[in-house]
Amino acid sequence: MKVLAFNSSPNMEKGNTSLILKPFLDGMKKAGAQVDLHYTKQMKINSCQGDYVCIMKTGGECILQDDMQTIYPQLREADIIVFASPLYFDGMTSGMKTLIERLWVPSGSPFLEIRNGRIRHPVAQGKGYKETAKVVLVSNCGFWEMDNFKPLVEHIKAICENTDLEFAGALLRPHGPTLGMMVKAGAPVQDVLEAAEAAGYQLVTEGQIAEGTLNVISRPLISLSDYVQTHNQRIKQYVEIVSKQSPSQQTIAVNSSA
Ligand SMILES: Cc1cc2nc3c(=O)[nH]c(=O)nc-3n(C[C@H](O)[C@H](O)[C@H](O)COP(=O)(O)O)c2cc1C
Repeated sequence: MKVLAFNSSPNMEKGNTSLILKPFLDGMKKAGAQVDLHYTKQMKINSCQGDYVCIMKTGGECILQDDMQTIYPQLREADIIVFASPLYFDGMTSGMKTLIERLWVPSGSPFLEIRNGRIRHPVAQGKGYKETAKVVLVSNCGFWEMDNFKPLVEHIKAICENTDLEFAGALLRPHGPTLGMMVKAGAPVQDVLEAAEAAGYQLVTEGQIAEGTLNVISRPLISLSDYVQTHNQRIKQYVEIVSKQSPSQQTIAVNSSA
């Protein structure tokens, strides 16, 4: 089984998105899957030109010569496609959106059909991607509440309907920065990381992820009021430290806030 995964966090493997993505992919590897992980930050991906050359003239070939050319052959073989993105302004990052626009269009057709009662472009099966491939979303966000993810989950589900692919679930981590801090502090959050690994194992071995497993990944780590309080305390401390530094000493706070 082949897994094609993308992480669009600019913080890459050091980010909060990776905290859940890594054990998830490890779980899939443990179950025997071959995993290819790409960081969009390290890839050169031009924006879709919107000229439909790929579906009108070149038989599904995108003419833009950039790192997407190494992705298309992997996409054709992928059984599971993982989109991992931190939540940016209630949606995916621009890096992920640019990638997704380039990912699907060459697999399509300029014609229209009625599928499940609504207009779609027919998908050229077997050409761009496997019709049996499953899509998984991995995301984390700075705010506390789960419903911050609603627009992103709906968007990914809509993309799956558009491309006629199965949406196999979402690993969502609200108040994401807290998880990394609690791991560093040795707080009891191992269950969350273990659930992420179990989710990967389940997806490969059983073809689906149990709802209970997803719920553990998303469980509250701290109360809403404590989260606001500790966040504001950390920002205050940070501002005090930075205000005493010369401009050349000032460093950027990574992953500290929403
Ligand atoms: C430009 C930008 C926009 C963001 N928008 C949101 C948002 O709309 N809602 C939210 O809860 N968090 C938002 N965040 C916070 C990130 O989702 C959060 O810090 C996340 O943990 C970052 O993941 P990473 O460490 O993998 O990059 C935003 C962060 C940035 C930099």
